[in-house]
Amino acid sequence: MNKVIETIRERSSTRGYTPEPVTAEELDILLQAGLQAPTAANRQEIHFTVLPGSHPLLQELEEEKNRLRDITAPPHNFYYEAPVVVIISADSTYKWGSLDAGIAVENMALAAESLGLGNLIIGCILDAMSGEKKAHFSEALKLPPAYEYKIAIAFGHKAVTKEPHTYDAGAQITML
Ligand SMILES: Cc1cc2nc3c(=O)[nH]c(=O)nc-3n(C[C@H](O)[C@H](O)[C@H](O)COP(=O)(O)O)c2cc1C
Repeated sequence: MNKVIETIRERSSTRGYTPEPVTAEELDILLQAGLQAPTAANRQEIHFTVLPGSHPLLQELEEEKNRLRDITAPPHNFYYEAPVVVIISADSTYKWGSLDAGIAVENMALAAESLGLGNLIIGCILDAMSGEKKAHFSEALKLPPAYEYKIAIAFGHKAVTKEPHTYDAGAQITML
């Protein structure tokens, strides 16, 4: 089968990682996949902040997320101890910023799947990234001026596997 179609069919979210690191070469391929994503009018106004899973800012984000949700001890942190997390931000004033970031993150997810790496798209830190600590996190993560968090993605080697999700094509597709 066509490799792209095969990768789309096989991709699923990974919520459990081994300690094995993502190599510099793999990370470069993943970031290139994000950079190669199409953007509206080719403005390319999205930014990628790369953090190792051990970075203290990730713990800080986890604590802020939990504080806002009134959770004390979730079973996993938001990135499931993955060795790499990439935060994608975009110009907050640009109407296509969210869509551009979403397209880039899926490019990266498919690239990871094609490399045999697990990945998880992460939206659950949105409230933490846009709440009262927004300026602090934006500065600490070195987001470009006027950029804001849109989405994140974790990468690593799969410690668990999950079947791709099912769907109801009949309900979701209308053929006219
Ligand atoms: C915009 C977006 C945000 C998401 N945020 C999270 C998240 O914060 N935590 C999480 O575990 N999964 C998150 N996911 C993954 C979805 O839960 C997952 O894609 C969905 O359940 C379908 O499963 P699959 O990816 O294995 O096909 C997110 C996915 C998308 C597209």
